[in-house]
Amino acid sequence: MKYLVDKYSRRIRYIRISVTDRCNLRCRYCMPVGGIQWLPHDSIMRYEEFLRIIQICAKRGVEKIRITGGEPLVRRGILGFLERIKAIDNIKELTLTTNGLLLGGLAKDLRSVGIDRVNISLDTLNKDKFVYITRVDALDKVLSGIENALSEGFAPVKINVVAIKGFNDEEISSFARLTMDIPIDVRFIELMPIGCASKFGSSSVMKSYEIRQLIERSFGEMEPLAPGLGPAQVFRLPGARGKVGFISPLSDNSFCSRCNRIRLTANGYLRPCLLWDHELDILGPIRRGITDQALEELLEQGIMSKPGSHKISYNYSGRTISLMNEIGG
Ligand code: 5AD
Ligand code: SF4
Repeated sequence: MKYLVDKYSRRIRYIRISVTDRCNLRCRYCMPVGGIQWLPHDSIMRYEEFLRIIQICAKRGVEKIRITGGEPLVRRGILGFLERIKAIDNIKELTLTTNGLLLGGLAKDLRSVGIDRVNISLDTLNKDKFVYITRVDALDKVLSGIENALSEGFAPVKINVVAIKGFNDEEISSFARLTMDIPIDVRFIELMPIGCASKFGSSSVMKSYEIRQLIERSFGEMEPLAPGLGPAQVFRLPGARGKVGFISPLSDNSFCSRCNRIRLTANGYLRPCLLWDHELDILGPIRRGITDQALEELLEQGIMSKPGSHKISYNYSGRTISLMNEIGG
């Protein structure tokens, strides 16, 4: 197989696809206060258009697809789309990142269309703080969504926590404790100062090693586990069932050399790096009737433009062409 390889010899195995910019939450680090102008309907990629790209990439060694948003479960027809991705040869893993609001009603269907894993974004276990950060009163729904995912047999269920100093730093141990008795993996993500999150400022960032220290102070030293394919560093609390992971785009400088992914935005741009403001239009050429051969070359060209490392730092200006809800994190 002729793999998709970038200029720095990183093989692309993984595509993250944002299927919609729309969302039923309004997280402060993601969406602007005044609400947001949704992308017009006809500038959103149709499922067939995504599938065409996935098919080409699967022939070139892409093995894993993650569906994100916005909130992917708000897009009509999502289950059928997921089922069609599962049927593509060579795709070994199909996962979904969701805010969990609709998971209660959909966990069973997601299981039956063959989703391999769900990641739930949840930054607090406190009802009032949840309302503050997401601007919606829905913690109970998310928690029952998680319970449903577990009872449908998703294991482990992953919870992504964006760590924000002054907001959820006191809950780090409560999140870590969730891994003790049930098959829940918790992953702490450093708040990246991009898009709406840049207004939080560098004083809100908690570095992974600070989070780790907090956890080890309460639970004792964690056992380091072999890294998976992704960027997380993974540990286990003494005697725990699930794992604790850290995603450290800011504090880990080997982060980029292990990167194996590209992103497709809801409006059909290839984004070679989350943290580098460059996107290549794919939807335009598709709608103008590009051939499969030329589309494959266009994707190769986008991959070749993937930078060796990102340039963001604690005092990055934060401007991006797309907002986080269009890119999908
Ligand atoms: N920094 C870190 N994580 C972020 N996410 C959204 N915006 C940011 C940011 N600025 C997370 C969401 C979700 C995932 C898709 O990306 O909370 O877990
Ligand atoms: Fe929605 Fe995710 Fe953005 Fe929150 S972070 S508003 S859940 S897209």
